[in-house]
Amino acid sequence: MRVAVIGAGYVGLIQAVGLAHIGHDVVLAERDAERVAAISAGRSPIYEPGLPELLSATLADKSLTVTTSNIDAVAGAEIVFLALPTPQGNEGEADVSAIFLVADELAPVLPEGCLVVTKSTVPVGTNLEVGVRTGRPVASNPEFLREGSAVTDFMKPDRIVIGAQDRSYVDKLVELYRPIDAPILVTDLVSAEVIKYAANGYLAARVTYANAMANVCEAVGADVRDVLLGIGYDHRIGFSFMRPGPGFGGSCFPKDTRALVKLAADAGYEFSLMRGVIATNEEQLARTFAKVVAAAGGDVRGSRVAVWGLAFKAGTDDVRESPALAIVGRLLDAGADVVAFDPQATVPGISAAPDAMAAVDGAEVLLIATEWPQFQRCDLQAVAARMSGSAIVDARNLLDPTAVKAAGLTYTGVGR
Ligand code: UGA
Repeated sequence: MRVAVIGAGYVGLIQAVGLAHIGHDVVLAERDAERVAAISAGRSPIYEPGLPELLSATLADKSLTVTTSNIDAVAGAEIVFLALPTPQGNEGEADVSAIFLVADELAPVLPEGCLVVTKSTVPVGTNLEVGVRTGRPVASNPEFLREGSAVTDFMKPDRIVIGAQDRSYVDKLVELYRPIDAPILVTDLVSAEVIKYAANGYLAARVTYANAMANVCEAVGADVRDVLLGIGYDHRIGFSFMRPGPGFGGSCFPKDTRALVKLAADAGYEFSLMRGVIATNEEQLARTFAKVVAAAGGDVRGSRVAVWGLAFKAGTDDVRESPALAIVGRLLDAGADVVAFDPQATVPGISAAPDAMAAVDGAEVLLIATEWPQFQRCDLQAVAARMSGSAIVDARNLLDPTAVKAAGLTYTGVGR
């Protein structure tokens, strides 16, 4: 099928490469000429396992082409995906102006009968408005890709959600995704829009529950890992998305939880549960920072702090709303001398060591902020020898406290 994808951000790029890989003829449009040049040359602008290989293959067999022109991209398209950014607006709402701008730009040139599908996370009513602006049938097809495993998530999704006004529009998308083996849930437009927020809101709440439980465990002297195992065997609860940490971050959860509160409030519902999730998450960040300060003896001014990890989670170079970055910011504000190492992410203004061991040289405190597996395999004796102090704050529960203590270091984890 001839498909256009507008926007080569995270979602659009994976969607375009994925659809080309499963046999469609895809044109990907992106305004940023440098990004287009990189993608056209087979260079992935994001770190995402498996993506470079698929990108090269789909460019080579010409199932994927890339352009800077939205208008060229939609020529002859049967389906046009809008994968545009919906950043947070001033009051927590999602700012959908990029979507409407493109809808207006494309309206005069969209092929007759072509289906316009929104991939971006958008508030209720956005798709209807896109339909009005483009004069074409619309559908909502939210994405559930996780950074770091986006290619697998595209090829083997848990489900495909299609929201549409009319069944005839649905069939086109069902046909498009035929090579992918996944249950397809067909809903009305508004329900599909809400599903995406409901999923991210729930997952954020789960992580927050684990974090809050960790805090309870710290207070009463329990081990949160055992507590979460003990509840996880209950098949109604399960084990996934229950890893305590420094608080959730990334380009989605923080923005989507706030947008969910706003979306509900606009419709007259006070979503106090979700407000609590957001507030508890902020507390978790502050709590992690406080653990580093305590590990430095109550004041970090002038203390050298090594930070392992800057990305918002392992498997990505993305630092958007990264808890690691937020804590580093607070440490710098408090006068700490921070040296960081992340295997993929670098951040201007934060001194970076060439490797994890170099980062700990002369450090009083080591903070593990991102759960990269290589940190788990570190040589603790060498860490102890290279640090000037002896405190490890493990904000991801990555290390074995007994092994840390055996190396002559002190250990502060999360809820244990
Ligand atoms: C999330 C969702 O998982 C995807 O389904 C969704 O498509 C995506 O947002 C989106 O809306 O585009 P992502 O932001 O890549 O994906 O990251 P997650 O793996 O969900 O992690 C989010 C945050 O929660 C991270 O800061 C992570 O460290 C934290 N987390 C996650 C925990 O602290 N503990 C856990 O057990 C799981």
